[in-house]
Amino acid sequence: MEVIINSDARVASERAARVVARLVREKPDAVLGLATGSTPLMLYEELIRLHAQEGLDFSRVTSFNLDEYVGLDSDHKWSYNHFMWDKFFSRININPDNVNIPDGMVTDIPAYCDAYERQIAQSGGVDLQILGIGADGHIGFNEPTSSFASRTRIKTLTRRTVADNACFFDDDEAIVPRHCITMGIGTIMESRTILLLAFGENKADAIAATVEGPVAAMVPASILQHHADAKIILDESASARLQLAAYYRWVYEGKPEWQQDA
Ligand code: F6R
Repeated sequence: MEVIINSDARVASERAARVVARLVREKPDAVLGLATGSTPLMLYEELIRLHAQEGLDFSRVTSFNLDEYVGLDSDHKWSYNHFMWDKFFSRININPDNVNIPDGMVTDIPAYCDAYERQIAQSGGVDLQILGIGADGHIGFNEPTSSFASRTRIKTLTRRTVADNACFFDDDEAIVPRHCITMGIGTIMESRTILLLAFGENKADAIAATVEGPVAAMVPASILQHHADAKIILDESASARLQLAAYYRWVYEGKPEWQQDA
């Protein structure tokens, strides 16, 4: 794991965007794994800027989103499908045929999830997966005690995640869907590179447990300790409970410039 502590969320997001942009320039048909929620918003803004001002070309990129709420139509204003088109896809030149987001309205969920896995495999696998993290340590919507071997499937959100996500549902917990389709932890771990972003004090405990705690199903993100190329990109407040924060800064400052966005 490489932990990169930034002065604030914008600097962190710009750094993450440089990693994405470098991949897309080197491999124009890259496969990106994408997340929703508040965390990646500034990353998407920066990628939109790079597209508009520097011609970053997404026309051959394929994307797979991590998750979607069960029961929300793709056009629903609170669906993750709507979120992705509103916040990102409609403002870059991605080919709509190359966009994959789980469909929360399918009737045969297990068959659909198997097909989603096959699509990821047929695309050549995810080159770079963007992750946020829940305050309870979830990645995708793999809540605590999810199997590290899990694949795309239906999950039930914890009460804490429902409460945390109510901000996207007019602050009304009662209307936050309880179920979602999410890539599994096993699916996520097959990505070649992982960028996990976390901002704000609310994430500090989850980040400390993920980076410095034992690998345990109670903290799903802790499995990233076993990933060969996982970068944890933080702002100051999300790094506040890391025991080795000074060491991570020292490591980063000592890297040659050519390695810093790699
Ligand atoms: C979203 C996702 C979730 C979020 C996490 C953090 O696609 O997979 O794991 O990344 O719930 O959400 P925010 O960024 O809103 O704090």
